[in-house]
Amino acid sequence: MQPLVTHHRTAPPTVDGGRLLRRVEELGNIGRDPATGGITREGYSPADREARAYVVEEARAAGLTVSVDAAGNIFIRAQPAGAAADRPALLMGSHLDTVVGGGRLDGAYGVLAALEVVQACAEFAAESRYEPMAVAFTNEEGALFPQPFFGASVLSGRLADLPREPLDHNGRSLRGPLALAGGDLYSLGSAVWPAESVAAYLELHIEQGPVLERTGNRIGVVNGITGRTVLTVEIHGMAGHAGTVPMAGRCDALAAASRAVLAVERIASERDLCRVATVGRLVIHPNSPNTIADRVRLTVDLRDTVASRMDKAETALRQELRNVARQTGAEIEVVARTHSGPVSTNADLRALIEESCLKLGVPYESLPSGAGHDAQVVADIAPVAMIFVPSIGGASHVPHEDTDPADLVVGAEVLLHTALTAAGV
Ligand code: GLV
Ligand code: MN
Ligand code: MN
Ligand code: MN
Repeated sequence: MQPLVTHHRTAPPTVDGGRLLRRVEELGNIGRDPATGGITREGYSPADREARAYVVEEARAAGLTVSVDAAGNIFIRAQPAGAAADRPALLMGSHLDTVVGGGRLDGAYGVLAALEVVQACAEFAAESRYEPMAVAFTNEEGALFPQPFFGASVLSGRLADLPREPLDHNGRSLRGPLALAGGDLYSLGSAVWPAESVAAYLELHIEQGPVLERTGNRIGVVNGITGRTVLTVEIHGMAGHAGTVPMAGRCDALAAASRAVLAVERIASERDLCRVATVGRLVIHPNSPNTIADRVRLTVDLRDTVASRMDKAETALRQELRNVARQTGAEIEVVARTHSGPVSTNADLRALIEESCLKLGVPYESLPSGAGHDAQVVADIAPVAMIFVPSIGGASHVPHEDTDPADLVVGAEVLLHTALTAAGV
């Protein structure tokens, strides 16, 4: 980071807590599923588009400038439309998409707080060393299109890692939904940012775990982010009548999948090859009570903070899948893979966050992130840091995910203070 520039000003920018909480409330009604009370805004779905439109409208009403890149990422800045980027950006943000039946804060809070900071800084933005800019990255979760961190990956230039024609879980192309979000699958290259164009990326997020609530600290300064590998596995057996096909000689795709699910669990539990391993999605065909399944598609999510352990876990998983295929006669194939390695956050930025906490009198601690975040991908091209606020009961990716409103405001204040010192606003 370069040294700070100080400016004489009458009143320092401040967070409008009421405005932030109003937006959290309003955005939190988009994609609400009345059956569960949870939020379902899968990336590039109609509900996701509605959330995007809400944020764009709020930003424009605040007199800010909005642009959308080919990946559908939304950028919000104080500079007039079309103004050339004359300084590196101080990017702040997160994502608006959610998991199926998730909460209203995961991702959305970080975007709204970044919008609040850009709005608060608007009148000073022109004099800052770095241009404060809010970003809402697309498809962080990979709930519908199984390419998590899609928008951040495009921005960071990971184009070679992405499929040329990304398909959703139902085999439908990203092309149409991306166009509806203002993007263009065939010009993703135009959305890549050169490394020197981003001075830093700051992501404010709910912790999604129990640590801060237990210690009573109100801010977490994230020291590292777990690596994540997601495999989509397809298992082919032979369909048949549940009543007439004898047990001997069956090739039941679901029975084979069950063995695979348990093998995944053992990789992290008994064998301790990686920190956690999860099969979170299972689609059974034809999913009929009296028909033997002929096809199962499942996802495997492997995570660890050590890259070599992730490699070992994946190698072991692939071996287990071969074993299951041999034992059951099913055909098993890994049809898709995405990978994002573990990263450390930037020490200078961490020091700025801690300094902000001290200035604001907010108790903080350092902790790792077990969840994935756009920051770990943006780390390819820029120094990154993350600020956590406590999650009530440690709950996340569930409808009752929540944070004390006072903590939501404190988090935004820490983000603002950190941004001001980093950008010399
Ligand atoms: C992404 O949100 C993840 O950590 O699952
Ligand atoms: Mn999430
Ligand atoms: Mn998130
Ligand atoms: Mn996430």
